[in-house]
Amino acid sequence: MAPPAKTLSRHQAVAAARQRLLDADVDTADEDARLLLRAATGLTRLELATQPESALTPEQSLLLDQYLMRREAHEPVSRILGSRGFWTVDVLVTPNVLDPRPDTETLVETALTLVENTANAPLKILELGAGSGAIACALLSELPRAEAIVVDLSPHACQASKANLTRCGFNNRAFVLQARWYEAIEGQFDLIICNPPYIASTELNTLPPSVRLYDPLLALDGGEDGLDCYRAIIQDLPRMLKSRGLVIFELGYGQAADVRHMLEGMNLEVEKIARDLGGHERALAARAPKRDQLAI
Ligand SMILES: C[S@@+](CC[C@H](N)C(=O)[O-])C[C@H]1O[C@@H](n2cnc3c(N)ncnc32)[C@H](O)[C@@H]1O
Repeated sequence: MAPPAKTLSRHQAVAAARQRLLDADVDTADEDARLLLRAATGLTRLELATQPESALTPEQSLLLDQYLMRREAHEPVSRILGSRGFWTVDVLVTPNVLDPRPDTETLVETALTLVENTANAPLKILELGAGSGAIACALLSELPRAEAIVVDLSPHACQASKANLTRCGFNNRAFVLQARWYEAIEGQFDLIICNPPYIASTELNTLPPSVRLYDPLLALDGGEDGLDCYRAIIQDLPRMLKSRGLVIFELGYGQAADVRHMLEGMNLEVEKIARDLGGHERALAARAPKRDQLAI
């Protein structure tokens, strides 16, 4: 018979969890050990801090062990727990859908800065490649009269977007469409926003395991030079934007100059390139000319 598992106090459990994650080369071991312990016990940060000597129940120990095994295999915490905070909303993170990253909040911030004067206007938004729908949820939470069409080629992403838009209470202001970029879209938009797949195909196998093993290929692979999706989207952009409409793209490392060049080639004016918290150029915003100057 196996010996009974040693009962650990909360304090001992977090130290042991941290060590396991360090041994597995998880570089956020400290933070993740605390998060997973809180999730396994249902305790608040304050409860853990004020009662560190209380013992874990066997059920809590077992659940923590299951979470740790998954994290040791480099599964991101948001996937283990099934959700993550993005901007001011909490989105479900489901398998086969990109885990939305904090850097992507730079797009939301840029959009809100540039549409600031019209925050109360009935904006028409198109999100291309919506994944979990995190960007659309964040924008609709800040722009109370905006409406969004949310597009993704992946059925898993469409399901996740729908679930998150419903969860955030935006069903009546958002419509989810499974399609290839604009293929099923009619009309013109005040804002088109997109975090496209932008990793060069040859670099996919150099990505860290937390990305390579868990994020879907369709969300990552940007073709030979990483720029295929920008090319496909930008060639039809002028006819999809209203006069003075705004497009905002997420950028991969070192892609700002190429994307700027493509947009300027279609007569769009780059208005802002915003950096993320790590200092990388992350969001590029460009504006369509007045309607009578559009290069259609
Ligand atoms: C980098 S992910 C972005 C997901 C989400 N917007 C985010 O920021 O977390 C790119 C998304 O584009 C979708 N996608 C890839 N090719 C597409 C295409 N041709 N048409 C529509 N969506 C596409 C993928 O399925 C994926 O959900």
